Amino acid sequence: MRAVATSAELRAGVAAARQAGAAVGLVPTMGALHAGHRSLLAAARRENGFVVASIFVNPLQFGPNEDLASYPRDLAGDLAVMERDGVDLVFTPEPAEMWPRPPVVRVSAGEIGTRLEGALRPGHLDGVATVVAKLLNLVGPCRAYFGRKDAQQLAMVRRMVSDLAFPNEIVACPTIREPDGLALSSRNAYLSPEQRRRATALSGGLRAGLDAWLAGERDPAKIQAAALAVLDDTPGIDTQYVALVEPEGFEPSRTAEAGHVLAVAARVGPARLIDNLVLEAPA
Ligand code: PAJ
Repeated sequence: MRAVATSAELRAGVAAARQAGAAVGLVPTMGALHAGHRSLLAAARRENGFVVASIFVNPLQFGPNEDLASYPRDLAGDLAVMERDGVDLVFTPEPAEMWPRPPVVRVSAGEIGTRLEGALRPGHLDGVATVVAKLLNLVGPCRAYFGRKDAQQLAMVRRMVSDLAFPNEIVACPTIREPDGLALSSRNAYLSPEQRRRATALSGGLRAGLDAWLAGERDPAKIQAAALAVLDDTPGIDTQYVALVEPEGFEPSRTAEAGHVLAVAARVGPARLIDNLVLEAPA
C-alpha cells in the first residue's frame, strides 16, 4: 500500500494502475475507521483490481459550530487498517492541498440538500457534494462506495452523478451495526458508557416504526410517532427529526411504501447521531 498526500501523486498512481488494465474502486472517508468503513473497503476490494481510499476531514462540510476541530483523527491507526484491508493507494491530503484556495465554484446539492440533514446543517450536503465531485475527478474510479448509514448523502451523490453525468458507478453498502443495533459511527467515540447505552434508542425507534409498517400501518405520521415514542421514552435523547421520506429526493412520504426511508437524527450528550432504515420485509 502506498500513501500519498498530493493530487499529482494520486493521479499518477491511479494512471499507472489504469494503464495496467485494473478497474479502480474509490472509498472516500474522513478516517477514524470502524467496521462500517471496512465493509466499504472489502466491497471495493472484491469488485476492483485497484482500490483507492481517501482520508480527509473536509472543512467545507462542517458548520461553524460543529465538530471539525474535535473530529476524531487517527492517521497511523487508519493506515494500518487500510493496509490490512488490501487498499492499494491512500490519499491523505492536508486541507491546503485539497483546497489551496477556498473554492469559488461549488456543487449545490439543491433541494435534497435543504431537507432533514440539510435543514439542520445548512451547507453540509453542498460541502459533501463539492468534495465528492473533486475526489471523483481526481481519481476517476469505475466505482465509488458509500454507506447506507448516510442515506441522504448517498441519495444526493447518486443524484449529482446522474444530473451532471459523472461516469462513475455509485455502489451502496449496507449499514453495519453493533450487536445491540447501534449503527457504527466515528462519532460514537464521543459517548460516555451511559450515553452509549441510551443511543440504542435510535435504532430501537426505527425498528418500532418498521414494526408498525410490517403490521400494516401506512400513515407516515403514525409510523414516525411509533419511532418517536421509543426515543421520547429514553432519557438523555434530544430528537431532532424522525421522518419517513421517499428514497430519491428525500421528500416526505405521503403513504408508507416499501423502499421508503425512515430517518432519525438525535443529540445524545456531546454527539449528534443519525440512523435510518428502509421499509422492507425482513429477508
Ligand atoms: P465518513 O463519515 O468517514 O464515512 C465514510 C463512508 O463510510 C460513508 O460512505 C459512510 O456512509 C460510510 N459509513 C459510515 N458508517 C457506516 C456504517 N455504520 N455502515 C456502513 N457504512 C458506513 O461520509 C463521509 O465520511 C464524508 O461525508 C465523505 C463521503 C467522505 C465526504 O467527505
